[in-house]
Amino acid sequence: MTSSDERINYLDHAATTPVRPEVLGKMLPYFTEKFGNPSSLYSLAGEARYGIDEAREQVALVLGCRSGEIVFTGGGSESNNLAIKGSAAMRSPAGGHIVTTAIEHHAIIHPVEQLEKLGYEATYVGVDRTGKVDPDEFAAAVRADTFLASVMLVNNEVGTIQDVATIAQKTREASKLLGGKVLIHTDAVQGAGKLSLNVSDLGVDLLSLSAHKIYGPKGVGALYVKRGVELEPLIAGGGQERQRRSGTENVASIVGFGEAITLAESERIESRGRMQQLANKLVEGVAERIPDSSFNSSKTDRVPEISNFSFPGVEGEPVLLGLDFKGIAASSGSACSSASLEPSHVLLAMGIDPALAVGSVRISFGRETTETDVNDVLQALKDVLDQLATFPSAQN
Ligand SMILES: Cc1ncc(COP(=O)(O)O)c(C=O)c1O
Repeated sequence: MTSSDERINYLDHAATTPVRPEVLGKMLPYFTEKFGNPSSLYSLAGEARYGIDEAREQVALVLGCRSGEIVFTGGGSESNNLAIKGSAAMRSPAGGHIVTTAIEHHAIIHPVEQLEKLGYEATYVGVDRTGKVDPDEFAAAVRADTFLASVMLVNNEVGTIQDVATIAQKTREASKLLGGKVLIHTDAVQGAGKLSLNVSDLGVDLLSLSAHKIYGPKGVGALYVKRGVELEPLIAGGGQERQRRSGTENVASIVGFGEAITLAESERIESRGRMQQLANKLVEGVAERIPDSSFNSSKTDRVPEISNFSFPGVEGEPVLLGLDFKGIAASSGSACSSASLEPSHVLLAMGIDPALAVGSVRISFGRETTETDVNDVLQALKDVLDQLATFPSAQN
């Protein structure tokens, strides 16, 4: 437990967040009295349908788009897969080129790799030492047959923000010059509640979201699909979601997602200053107490909620276990790969030495994180690293 209280000091909000009581409260009736199938005709079904319609309006309001442009999915991974495979499947004959980056979440990289096995081609544009993509370099990768360009808004491991609007504009121009027609997709899963998601400002055709990163339920997300963009559905069946995603809707979760994104957006600007203060305290505190550590991100173009550090001579796992013993939950890289000792593909793409990359720790703040939590993790990190230096065998 932490030194100051008995609760877990949860500093892994980039992995997931707890469902907010307000969100749960909105969801609960849809498990019980409002249980109807939204596709049925009687009034009970109408209640469920109304819940979905309202949530669609809520998401659309945050994105500044029409509600008919929102497709509810089973989460961020599905949204990314729908954008990638759904656009690839529209190609006739099959084939063509995708531009993306080397630091995308695996929910982008793996579906693109699946397409490569089928004969599609892909370019993974690199990043600089801070995790930034150069918009000119990205646009220069476009070919006449490039049908999709995908760049994430905020990186989940290091928090770096990409200039999606400039990348979109330059990429579109490059494609036009070559006589092509490229769709622009952004994985905005880590941007929700942190940055503006206005799709016109971002200049994107497709945008992925996930509810569980913003205090909504797991297993629900959305894909913004600009009017006129056609995608082959991943899941065919009863034709729900205007034929774009079949299957009886996860009504309670969709309702919860609508509420979660509304709350996240309404608190976004207000929380920024507090998050920045906490981030400054953390980054300065780590540099002071652990002088041989390195900070793995951009100091300027990053969301304050996500910080990533490397500590030479240690692996991430024993550090995380040591922190866990002290009641602190943090992560090494992304949750899905944190069980492996492989250095993170994001840190490697940033040019960080593999030996340092395996000793990386991600600390990600949320709305309940306090200054005391930051003080506690600073102290705990120092203690754990000192212990590991004294007893190196504890690492084996
Ligand atoms: C950037 C990014 N994209 C996609 C996902 C996948 O979202 P989900 O867990 O809802 O499938 C995540 C979650 O870790 C993420 O951080």
